[in-house]
Amino acid sequence: MATKVVSAVPRVEILARSGINEIPTEYIRPESERLSVGDAFEEVRKTAEGPQIPVVDLQGFDSPDEAVRLACVEEVKKAASDWGVMHIVNHGISLELIEQLRRVGKEFFDLPIEQKEQYANDQSSGKIQGYGSKLANNASGQLEWEDYFFHLIFPEEKTDLSIWPKQPSDYIEVTKEFGKQLRVVVTKMLQALSLGLGLKEGKLEEELGGMEDLLLQMKINYYPICPQPELALGVEAHTDVSALSFILHNMVPGLQVYYGGKWVTAKCVPDTIIMHVGDCLEILSNGLYKSILHRGLVNKEKVRISWAVFCEPPKDRIVLTPLQDVVSDDNPPKFPPRTFDQHIQHKLFRKSQGEFNTPN
Ligand SMILES: [Fe+2]
Repeated sequence: MATKVVSAVPRVEILARSGINEIPTEYIRPESERLSVGDAFEEVRKTAEGPQIPVVDLQGFDSPDEAVRLACVEEVKKAASDWGVMHIVNHGISLELIEQLRRVGKEFFDLPIEQKEQYANDQSSGKIQGYGSKLANNASGQLEWEDYFFHLIFPEEKTDLSIWPKQPSDYIEVTKEFGKQLRVVVTKMLQALSLGLGLKEGKLEEELGGMEDLLLQMKINYYPICPQPELALGVEAHTDVSALSFILHNMVPGLQVYYGGKWVTAKCVPDTIIMHVGDCLEILSNGLYKSILHRGLVNKEKVRISWAVFCEPPKDRIVLTPLQDVVSDDNPPKFPPRTFDQHIQHKLFRKSQGEFNTPN
């Protein structure tokens, strides 16, 4: 008889399926934050008229016509400095591969909990890859309404395929191929962003570790239906520590970004990949490119699944500091030099001191 695997970490999926009408207190956000939280479907309708995350067409970047290429660079630069987040169209990854990626991720989460638990991570022992749910990391014990699967997908020689889902049977093949193709997009975006800063096109890629050391970490987020979406968050407000983050989803809304003094709910734009500028690029560009505050709403109607890929420099080897070519007497460095690891520790420290008060 198979042994039943029981996790010490509560899975939100189990909670959501238990038929509760009221969510446990650990998932209820503080009162001040709740003023601006709502069901994702209602919120996306409300912000339909206001400013929206820009859509950037990447096709021009491959043009032999220099003027077309530069116009594309300008578009990327504008979106990265104004919003720090954009929907990318004509990114170069086949829509068929993206559909396959969505399918294999969904099929994994459709497996019975017991099967998924065989891939459970163990955050206390530093084994962060695998199936997991957020652990409370503050005194209030606040939790988020999501489960996830986390693993490194590129460079290939740094991946640990032994912890990747074996079911569905083509999960590994599809996800590996997606990692490879996304890596091409990463280079393209870093080139455009380098040119936007007046640098050589390979500069940012080189600063972040290049093909061998820039890591692509995938987190598949699974947000079950929530009976009280006006009280909870799928992901609390944060900026990404990465250099760049790429997001795909199953066309269920949830992403909100804090722009112009209020929360803007992202529309679902077909055939695009969302790209965020993360903290590393904000630092290297001395704040020209913005790492925007964002969070994830949940809803009462549909399960939301999103695929986030974080592009991160090696933890200790590279010191992140505003690039010499972008600072001047008029534009002195806004960030002290830190390794990526020191940057993460600094953020955690500030959070533990209660310095991250989310705007409402
Ligand atoms: Fe994020």
